[in-house]
Formats: sequence, structure tokens, C-alpha cells
Amino acid sequence: MIKEKIIEDLANSDFSIENLAEVPENFTGDYSLPCFFLAKRLGKNPAEIAKEFASTYKPQGIISKVENMGPYLNITLDRSKCANYGEECLNFDDFKGKVACIDFSSINLAKHPHIGHLCTTIIGASIARILEKVGYKVVRINYLGDYGTPFGKLITAVKKWGNRQEIEKIGVDALQDLYVRFNQEESEELIASARDEFRKVEEKDSEALEVYNWIIEISLREMHNIYDQLGIKFDDYNGERYYEGKKDEVIALLKEKGLVFESEGALLVNLSEFNLTDFMVQKSDGTSLYSTRDIAAAIDRKNKYNFDISLYVTDTAQNLHFKSLFKTLELMGYEWAKDLKHIGYGRLSTPDGKIASRRGKVAVLKDIFESAENKAFEIVKERDLDRQVATDIGVSAVSFGLLKTERVKDAVFDIESALNFEGETSTYLQYTNARLNSIFSKANESGIKEISVREYTLNEEEFACIKHLDLYKEMIFNAYNNFEPCYVARYAIKLATLFNKFYANCKVVSEDEVVSAYRIGLCRKVQAVLVDCMQILGVKIIEKM
Ligand code: ARG
Repeated sequence: MIKEKIIEDLANSDFSIENLAEVPENFTGDYSLPCFFLAKRLGKNPAEIAKEFASTYKPQGIISKVENMGPYLNITLDRSKCANYGEECLNFDDFKGKVACIDFSSINLAKHPHIGHLCTTIIGASIARILEKVGYKVVRINYLGDYGTPFGKLITAVKKWGNRQEIEKIGVDALQDLYVRFNQEESEELIASARDEFRKVEEKDSEALEVYNWIIEISLREMHNIYDQLGIKFDDYNGERYYEGKKDEVIALLKEKGLVFESEGALLVNLSEFNLTDFMVQKSDGTSLYSTRDIAAAIDRKNKYNFDISLYVTDTAQNLHFKSLFKTLELMGYEWAKDLKHIGYGRLSTPDGKIASRRGKVAVLKDIFESAENKAFEIVKERDLDRQVATDIGVSAVSFGLLKTERVKDAVFDIESALNFEGETSTYLQYTNARLNSIFSKANESGIKEISVREYTLNEEEFACIKHLDLYKEMIFNAYNNFEPCYVARYAIKLATLFNKFYANCKVVSEDEVVSAYRIGLCRKVQAVLVDCMQILGVKIIEKM
């Protein structure tokens, strides 16, 4: 890494990589080193420290100049010594042998997944790929919401008004309609029947169970289309119903540890000491809750996968639930409770406000993908590309559009701007990659030899690309440490921008053999990193655009 080399060449044991920053545009120098952190220890003011160092330092190695500017040391690099930097290996095995569980998507079956589920699906998938990048073995878990009264309601509605063949044909939309109808016509009788039907499922009544399983199948079928489009596969589909079966064990454990108290027939864990509301683990009718099932699931995952970290990707509205869950597990004596992390994300909306979902009007994921694809098709038609390309552009625009904002922030998703060829979009990345492909075929036609060039003096555009490529690993680890795919998104956009600037100002296929060879090599490096980022972000590669 360039930064490591700079520190080495500064030859001062006080300086470390962490202090080294890139110099903002319009300032002299390439990197800068603020001297504040030394002031206390050396008993001098930072400006003095910088001045002293600059006046005695003799440039060496990669460094051509060091100047002091106030409390900063501005470092200029020798352009003839940087040509061979930039990440060579893109797989980092720092966490090799470690296991990460990631619970994401976790849709509630029988109801149409809403925009929030799109976020957890896309953010979760991307974080899973970041975890793999740094070396983890990743277990992807879709903790299905396949338990509770909604199913009783649906079974009742299906039995009363449903036409199975038609539902088979239409899919989950038809179930959604029945669900809405149930809620509209809601009466005491209907509610009682719903409760009854779900009780029958739990008692494994074969008729109720048959309808239940069929509903699950219809719902999953549809989700699988979306997962396929996004290229996501799960390793574990154990859902809430599975863990309901482990409720008694959990309650027994909690009682054994003396952690529960009774209130109006219900059981709760007292968390007031920790500034948390009490965590109810059993209702007065003896049934389990979301909380109980999550306790069972966490323990089961530890036993099954022996994870080093275990993540949960849901919207920030569930912050309190996960705080209470983790605290409860800690109180139960599980030292691994510290390895559980809630990855929250903010609310998503569209410019027309349509997504603010009301009952029966949920913004369906399918619609989002379809409208993205249709819009992309207009672009594709102009360019004479085929339908599959439109699908790839559309799906990528949705993924990237959700990932480019910091995940905890509320975001606005606008499909029009997500499909721009310029600007911060997946289309821009895809277009840049396709441009790189065409450069390679042109170079090939012109008979450019791709030889490695050792001695080369970089111009400013080339240097900017190298400097950015060299930050790849550091960026990936930042993205990992903060579970933030948006760092990858920003990095990729900047890489594409720097590359396009280089391409606009420098001829890749030139008369000079060495220059051509170096530049082609640089293009290869850019493409490798760009494609790597695109893969992490769920942006599909399009060979030609
Ligand atoms: N199904 C839940 C929902 O849609 C999310 C589940 C998240 N995972 C968990 N282990 N609680 O809100």
C-alpha cells in the first residue's frame, strides 16, 4: 500500500497510517499528516512540530517533498515511483476460518413483502458479500415470518371465499386480496374462526395444516423469483413457527435462571435496570411471542453454526426489540451474546409518496422491479440491446439505489434518477465497465502487447486512479467494520469518475509502446476492482452497452 510505504519513508516512529489523510483538492501535496496528536507528548504546538520535521527531513523512497502548512505536513509523492501500486489481490483472508450468521430478508409469508423487506434483502445480501470478501464463511438465514394469527385469517378467508386454482394462477396477490377482504369484513365470528384455524395448525390438524402449507408455498414461490433476480441464495429457512416449537425449553431456561416474573398471567424478563422495558416472553394464554422465538433462534444458531458474529438486518424500528433480546441472552449467561449485532436501516420512500404503505395498498416489490425494468427497456430500445439487458439494468438500479445512502438514514428512492447514465448510478458503473471492455478489444485489434511495465512516470490522471485503487482494501475494511455497503458504492462511483477523467484526457492506444502497455494494465486494474465492487453491490455486469 502507498500509505504504508509513505510511513516507512518518513522514517519517524511517531507517524502511523491512521494519521495519514488524503489532501483535499486545491491544496499542494498528495497526502497530509496532521501533527496535533503529537503536541501533548512533545510539549510543543503542532505547527512547530510540523515546521521542525519539514526543515530537517530529506526526501527518500516514494516521497519527493514534505512541506509544513500550519499544523500539517503535506507530502508530495514521486510520480515515477508509484506506477506499480494499486491492489493486486482482491480477496482478503483476514477473517479466514470465522463464521458469520446473517439474518436478513426474513419476510412475513402470506402478506406481500413491503418496501422495508426490499431494504433488508438488498442490504443484507450486500453485507453478506462484504463478510465473504474479508474471509468469513457466511450462513445466510431467511427467518420466515410463518407464524401467527395472519395465517389463521388467511386460512379462514381461503376456505370461505377462495378459489384455489385461481390463487395458484395469480399467486400472492390473490392471497393479499383475501387478507384485505378479511380485514374489511372483520367480525367477531371471523376472528374466532381465524383463531380456531391457527390453533388447529398448531395442533397439526391435517386439513388446516394442508391449507397452511399451501399458503406458504404460494408465498415463497413468488419471493424466489425476486431472490433469483437478485442472485441471492439462503442456507437456512427456519422460521418463527419452527422456533415456536422450542418455546418450552426457552421458558424453562429463563425460569431456572430466575429471570422471569409474572404479571397478569404473562411472563416477563425484568430489564428496567438496563433502561429497557420489560421483555414479555409468554402471553397470558400461554403462547410465545416474537421475543421468545428470537431467543430460541439465537441459541439454536450458536449450537448449529458456532458463529463468531451473528447479524440481524431489520429496520431501526426494531432497535428496542434487539437491545432487549441481546440483554436477555447475556443475562441467561451466554457470553456470545456480545457477538450479536442489530443492523438497522432507515425508512425508504419514493418521490410520489406511494410507498407509505397502508393496509391493502402495500408497495409490492414486484411492482418496483417491473417499473424499473420497463423504464430500463426504454433506454435499451434506443441502444438496440436485448430484453435481458433491460432486466439487468433495472434490477441493478434498484439494488444500487438502495445501497448508496448510509443505511440508517431515511432515503428517497427515485427510479428515474437511478437509471441515469451519468451521476451516482449503477448504470454509470455498468457503462464504465462496458467502456473498459471496448477499450480492451480495440487495444487487441491494434496489436497492443499487454506486458508489465516496471519503470513509468505517472501523469496526474493516472496517479489519481492509482491512488484510489490503492485504497480498496482499506475501504472494504471500513465497510465491514461499519456494516456499510454505501462505502463500496461511493468508492465505485469515484473510481468510475476518475477512470473516465483519465480516459477523456489520455489516449490508451498510443504510438508509444510502453505508454500503451502501462495504460492497458491500469485499465485492467480498474476493471478488476470495479467489477468486484459491482458484485458486492448486486450490480450486474453487462458486457456491451
Ligand atoms: N419478519 C420480521 C419482520 O418482517 C423480521 C425478522 C427479523 N429477524 C429476527 N430474527 N427477528 O418484521
